[in-house]
Amino acid sequence: SLSPQDQLKQAVALAALAYVPRGEIIGVGTGSTANFFIDGLASMKADIPGAVASSEATAKRLASHGIKVVDLNEVTALGVYVDGADEIDPRGHMIKGGGAALTREKIVASVAAKFICIADGSKEVPVLGKFPLPVEVIPMAREAIARQLAKLGGTPKWREGVVTDNGNIILDVHGLSITDPVATEALINSWPGVVTNGLFAARKADVALIGAAGGVKTIT
Ligand code: A5P
Repeated sequence: SLSPQDQLKQAVALAALAYVPRGEIIGVGTGSTANFFIDGLASMKADIPGAVASSEATAKRLASHGIKVVDLNEVTALGVYVDGADEIDPRGHMIKGGGAALTREKIVASVAAKFICIADGSKEVPVLGKFPLPVEVIPMAREAIARQLAKLGGTPKWREGVVTDNGNIILDVHGLSITDPVATEALINSWPGVVTNGLFAARKADVALIGAAGGVKTIT
């Protein structure tokens, strides 16, 4: 049986199935909420020609359900991208990357017509930053980028032992209060050695399905 939080994750994941356009390839995210979505998508696999995965883990789970995994280079458009988030603000800006898949997530999301965010209510925040902001960094730039992040007022911590699907490292920045997510996302991404950061602000959620005890709340 599922924990109360997992029940909320499953509820929003299943609600997202209504946003899957029949006959179109879709993008699929990474994490425990996305996993519930993938399991639900199995019931619709005859309706979609395939899915682009945002991580090796998601590709495996899609394939285990018999859903065709498509390379992003083979597609020109994605109907939707469905993924969880670590934090989401009232305007649909998000922090992602708790699962270290942020770069592939951002690439796949950028190709999709719509981002559908699925999250339990614990992810809703007024201001982003309580969840440490993940930044994917080329290994040789680790300390140089850590010094830059410290100048922003945060405390970067190396997620030791973690190597991303792209062969890079993650710095988690603690203690930020991100009042201008669009500007912060662009600034951090401008530093040489940063692959990308976990702010999804320039490309935010178009629809957020938030799970609460009373049911699924839809924010557009
Ligand atoms: C993966 O890198 C993250 O962006 C996930 O989307 C995020 O960590 C949400 O995961 P859960 O659905 O497991 O909370």
